[in-house]
Amino acid sequence: MSTEKPLLAVKDLSVAFKTKKGMAAAVRGVTFNVYHGESMAIVGESGSGKSVSSLALLGLLPRSAQITGSANFDGQELIGMKSDALQRIRGRKIAMIFQDPMTAFNPVFTIGNQIAEAMEVHGEATGDEALSRAADLLEMVGVPEPGQRVNQYPHEFSGGMRQRAMIAMAIANKPDLLIADEPTTALDVTIQAQVMEVLADIRGETGAAMILITHDLGVVAGASDRIQVMYGGRIFERGSTNDVFYDPQNPYTRGLLQSMPRLDAIGERLVPIHGSPPSILNMPGGCAFAPRCDFQVEACHTAPAQLELVSAGHESRCHRTGELPAYSVDGVSA
Ligand SMILES: Nc1ncnc2c1ncn2[C@@H]1O[C@H](COP(=O)(O)OP(=O)(O)OP(=O)(O)O)[C@@H](O)[C@H]1O
Ligand SMILES: [Mg+2]
Repeated sequence: MSTEKPLLAVKDLSVAFKTKKGMAAAVRGVTFNVYHGESMAIVGESGSGKSVSSLALLGLLPRSAQITGSANFDGQELIGMKSDALQRIRGRKIAMIFQDPMTAFNPVFTIGNQIAEAMEVHGEATGDEALSRAADLLEMVGVPEPGQRVNQYPHEFSGGMRQRAMIAMAIANKPDLLIADEPTTALDVTIQAQVMEVLADIRGETGAAMILITHDLGVVAGASDRIQVMYGGRIFERGSTNDVFYDPQNPYTRGLLQSMPRLDAIGERLVPIHGSPPSILNMPGGCAFAPRCDFQVEACHTAPAQLELVSAGHESRCHRTGELPAYSVDGVSA
């Protein structure tokens, strides 16, 4: 995979917000690739920088955000790109799916008109043709009676149907990359599974790559090829979904796994990670996770750890790499 040219190459991306209390370091030197057609998940607790790092790529952050680093998408640099050029990429080559579809749709226009408009903006189709393609798209994402539904307003759709409609709008221009930020968090569990299935089917049909952002590891398991774990604005671990789930090498990832219910460990005990995430206004000088870590030693408090290769395609950021106890699924160290 490493010899393949990535669709998106993010290098040393940092985002700091100017606030009344000083500079807030939300994302700190994040580097990653997304390859054609793959699904990569970004997981981590609330505030770890998952959303900010993707919003930075699309120029969707407020002016108080200072962004440095680089993000090459299909040969074009996104960071610092003029807003009209970025707008042409947004929605056509890269599309976002957000948590709350009610805010993504305008309540005064029909769902069909809004999907059609997304196509018209990028010159994909116009008028009746766009509207009829909107109905086809609704059918593709499993909205029943798409011919009638296309003329309904957002409030006439249930939450799950609205999320399907947002997926339809996102794929209207056949983007190469979908960024789905907590796409199912607002939905109940059975609907969540259906929406994830729609996303998988759609990607199967269109070949689009996906960045799936979520704090819910349960959603990630069947839905991503690779996982990237973020903490305090940095990547703490990344690898194949299997490696990260079954052979986590970072104490933070282990904590995250043990604090979340998983389908394959019935009857397990959930152990929350003690302490709370660092303040982005005052990041610790050493490893950001050190104050909460069961394996902390002095070195962890003096210098940040580097992301190191632990096995092929599997990296972890920890001063204690190689010294940690073996991991087993029920959380008991072997
Ligand atoms: N406009 C802003 N001004 C100041 N700080 C911000 C701004 N937007 C985000 N932040 C801060 O940046 C940090 C990272 O936020 P981000 O939204 O990326 O978190 P997240 O990992 O997506 O969390 P969640 O799971 O809750 O969505 C947080 O501490 C957040 O408060
Ligand atoms: Mg978020």
